[in-house]
Amino acid sequence: MLMTLVFQAPRGLTGRVVPPADKSITHRALIFSGLAEGSSRVHNPLDTGDCISTRRCLGALGVVITETRGSGGETILEIEGRGLRGFQEPENVLEAGNSGTTARLLAGLLAGQKVLTVLNGDSSLRSRPMLRVVGPLRRMGAEIQGRNQGRNLPLVFAPAPGELLPIDHQLEVSSAQVKSALMIAALRARGKVRLGGAIDSRDHTERLFDYLGLPLHREGSWLTVEPVEAVPAFELTVPGDISSAAFFITGALVCGKELLVENCGLNPSRLGFLEALKRMGARIEVDEQNLSGGEPLGSIRVLPGPLHGAEVGPESIPSCIDEVPLLAVLGAFARGITRIRGAGELRHKESDRLAAVARLFSSLGGRIELSEDGFAVEGPQSLKSAEIDPKGDHRIAMAAACLSPGIRDGVTVHGFEAAEVSYPDFVGMFRALGGVVA
Ligand code: S3P
Repeated sequence: MLMTLVFQAPRGLTGRVVPPADKSITHRALIFSGLAEGSSRVHNPLDTGDCISTRRCLGALGVVITETRGSGGETILEIEGRGLRGFQEPENVLEAGNSGTTARLLAGLLAGQKVLTVLNGDSSLRSRPMLRVVGPLRRMGAEIQGRNQGRNLPLVFAPAPGELLPIDHQLEVSSAQVKSALMIAALRARGKVRLGGAIDSRDHTERLFDYLGLPLHREGSWLTVEPVEAVPAFELTVPGDISSAAFFITGALVCGKELLVENCGLNPSRLGFLEALKRMGARIEVDEQNLSGGEPLGSIRVLPGPLHGAEVGPESIPSCIDEVPLLAVLGAFARGITRIRGAGELRHKESDRLAAVARLFSSLGGRIELSEDGFAVEGPQSLKSAEIDPKGDHRIAMAAACLSPGIRDGVTVHGFEAAEVSYPDFVGMFRALGGVVA
């Protein structure tokens, strides 16, 4: 169903946000519990679009997942793992939907198994690059066929006669999905797998390895994974997703209001957005309170104040890759120039997010200078109310909605159901913070 919503916040957005569970950590918790021996428990999983895709694929591979409730009413998933090599042959194609993390991480799990599997996704995912993960998995001996010589889904993973081979691999693009896929495959290899190059992306998989006691060594700029006999079953609580919180942080900043984010993941490899905001003059207080499954979590307080432009260069992009569109939005409310460089990977997300940001600005009557790998926005600009088509991209839909507190008469977003893949109750939260959605 196509959902057109009008977002307005005449009195601004302010209050307390508990973001939905972290999408990246939920995918990993599901996949590792599927690989484990015995029964794992995942508390507070993200229970929507993308993570349901991962759940559904694991189910088709024979992983039994049962949903229960904790004493506080929170969701708990009980997952019976199949072990590293015990997956059943699915009757049908595995559908990763819109989820790049599902497709790429599962590629690492499916490579070199004894069963035949076919992995597909929706039209957005079928256009996204897969060779970055297929290439090194083939070098490990996996037989993978795919559209455009393996560049795109659907991919077919042939049953393997033997074990995967050890390799040294230099990552050319900073991608946690690729790094994680290779780490997952490496657990079943005949020897050590060494990963070098662009390994500076989010480190949730590395933290999960440490939490589970799996052998991972960091030597200089290399990560080395050793094969194991088995992955142990585990229990883990998923913290809130800072990438989801980022929308409301933006919403509060564009209207100069205070916001408190609680129970939020504070993994340093995901904090680039907050660091960029501080460079733009935002007053942000971070209070780390706890550790869950090896992941730090706590609260973030955002205080009102004027913003100024800042530069965000290639070295900072991996830690704020999903928040770059929000930096463009904030640039329009900041005095001076906000310049982003080294963000070419945004062209390969659920949509070409650099082009999507440019379209957003032109709809709103704003000005943005686009380059191959970034943009420059000079502010302050006075944006006007407009109708936005995010073309099925959840983060663009929510970025548009979070601009509305800074625009008289708000913003109309077509196809807002796209937000479901990462933020199921976005509209409820927008209203709880004082916004109006019609
Ligand atoms: C993710 C990694 C990032 C990010 C995506 C989630 C992950 O993608 O954009 O939303 O969970 O590993 P890349 O690995 O393609 O950079």
